[in-house]
Amino acid sequence: MASRSTKQSGASRSAQRATAPTSSLATTLRSVTCGELTAANVGQNVILTGWVAHRRDYGKLLFIDLRDRYGLTQVVFDPERSPEAAAAHEVANSARLEYVLRIEGVVVHRLPGKENPALKTGDIEVEAQRVEILNAAKVPPFPIADHVSADEALRLRYRYLDLRRDTMRANLELRHRVVKHIRDYMDERGFLEVETPILTKSTPEGARDYLVPSRLYPGEFYALPQAPQQFKQLLMVAGIDRYFQIARCFRDEDLRADRQPEFTQLDVEMSFVGEEDVMGLIEGMLIELITSATGKRIKQTPFPRIAFDDAMERYGNDRPDLRFDLPLVSLGDTARIGSFKVFHDALDRGDVVKGLRVPGRATATRKELDELTEFAKNLGAKGLVTLALLPDGPKGPLTKFTTPDELAQITARMNGETGDLLLFVADEPKVANDVLSRLRSRMGEQLGLIDPDEVALCWVVDFPLLEVIEDNGVQRYHATHNPFSGMRPGDEPLLDTDPLAVTARQYDIVCNGYEIGGGSIRINIADLQRKVFQLLGLSEEQIVEQFGHMLEAFEFGAPPHGGIALGIDRLVMLLAGGETIRDVIVFPKMQNGQDALMRAPSPVAEEQLRDLHLRLREPERPR
Ligand code: AMO
Ligand code: AMP
Repeated sequence: MASRSTKQSGASRSAQRATAPTSSLATTLRSVTCGELTAANVGQNVILTGWVAHRRDYGKLLFIDLRDRYGLTQVVFDPERSPEAAAAHEVANSARLEYVLRIEGVVVHRLPGKENPALKTGDIEVEAQRVEILNAAKVPPFPIADHVSADEALRLRYRYLDLRRDTMRANLELRHRVVKHIRDYMDERGFLEVETPILTKSTPEGARDYLVPSRLYPGEFYALPQAPQQFKQLLMVAGIDRYFQIARCFRDEDLRADRQPEFTQLDVEMSFVGEEDVMGLIEGMLIELITSATGKRIKQTPFPRIAFDDAMERYGNDRPDLRFDLPLVSLGDTARIGSFKVFHDALDRGDVVKGLRVPGRATATRKELDELTEFAKNLGAKGLVTLALLPDGPKGPLTKFTTPDELAQITARMNGETGDLLLFVADEPKVANDVLSRLRSRMGEQLGLIDPDEVALCWVVDFPLLEVIEDNGVQRYHATHNPFSGMRPGDEPLLDTDPLAVTARQYDIVCNGYEIGGGSIRINIADLQRKVFQLLGLSEEQIVEQFGHMLEAFEFGAPPHGGIALGIDRLVMLLAGGETIRDVIVFPKMQNGQDALMRAPSPVAEEQLRDLHLRLREPERPR
């Protein structure tokens, strides 16, 4: 059978002899990839290209596993087969790990018993007739293998080698499939993909911007977009009633395992919609994606919806991990039962006493309890009250300050049973929630309550529109999500009387304890938007300077609209079963914000600074 490659391969005379090249990935230099030969190809001549993944020298026989993006093929060099094979053996003998080779040979069955069922190509090997070293390689700074854990800084410094590993390649492939699936899904539903600018205007209210100095306008700056929020709303005014974009976003925030300074969103906006339209669209997409990309089970569909207040009360945060139950419980006035000063003082201060029931852990050792207390204190708690419900009676500091009957009331409030360990924190709601929600996660893992084959998604809804933050020592309102979020119909008058009581038309989507997306039905009335900006503390001048274009657009027939953005990196991370988004971003920044490979950020030439009308203020760069 003639192949594409044999016809094209003027460059390679020997390719003429290859009878096998059935691969659609054949090129001028290769007839097949390293991932496709099976017993069906036995007897065929093939040409492989790739990297030396393993090398086993048995004196007479030399085995090389050749690796490319598609897999591994075992190649055997036997010098006694023919003079040609002897020459190939000599060349192969000088090849080291990660050398780039081109090998011609014949596909044969492996010796009986030597098959490798874990490999697609595990039934065959290629008997080499000719080999060419296309390029040599230095000894890699870490072994290219999945089971070897190299230091992440080193992996990122040599990311191109790290990406040769199977899991990293699989992550890139998964990301490609996820994005393709999303594009197809949106396209099928009439959404238009539109690219919005990367050089745009600095917007306060949000994270810190990355700024780009203007050469033509001394002292003025573009900003990189934190999200295409304003552009997508303007597209609604333009009548593009179904927009999406796989959008790069930039935020100068402190990095965490699930945060990068540049990241990718699936950004969506729709006109003439309510919450159900946007949520239904995304829910349908996520169900398809998770089922097709991972084979994991979704714990509950339709995704449960949890009001923000309930999420804080039961799980201590607004991104509850619903893979396991373990709800937090507020003791309320039950904490006044008995005379435990820690609890009484807390209630007197206006703080809360909240607890977590850990099933079956009453037998935790002193050391384990100390570790839990240390964990809580490191997170800012003043301490941790433990109560072990042992068969011969409860044990813990509370027992000294309560009668058995009183203690039974506290235990009952916690739904505690013999064998359980109860943990309590008395503090401001923020601290108590934060500490207990992390204890909850830790316990969920330790108790093995997480089924790795299951994902749990939920919507969090009914967020307050505003919160109070401290800004340079002054208390002011801040939008909990987005200054453009609309409010529950009928809540508008509360903007004048009780702004904190206004409920936003905001919805967040949460997966396994990670916020993977959020959006809202927006304000589309200029006066209402102006009023929210005023509440956020913007002066009339600031409103015009920063958001005048939005208010103006709203006056030209802005339709009712709403949307959402999903964090693609976080989503792919969860689908890949990983714990850091760096593993699903091809060239990520390190935890310290640096690009280890390109070594950015980096100083620039004085001349570049001059062009941009910039002079550096401080000799040393801040750490
Ligand atoms: P939000 O700021 O909630 O909403 O962002 C949406 C989603 O983007 C992801 N994300 C991040 N991922 C990685 N690194 C980061 N630094 C990072 N920051 C955010 C999260 C998050 O849920 N314009 C609004 C959306 C809208 O209202 O339509 C927005 O950007 O998964
Ligand atoms: P103390 O009265 O400070 O000796 O504390 C008695 C116990 O209560 C210790 O186990 C402390 O860790 C714990 N504790 C103290 N303050 C708090 C608090 N605010 N919340 C939870 N536990 C606390």
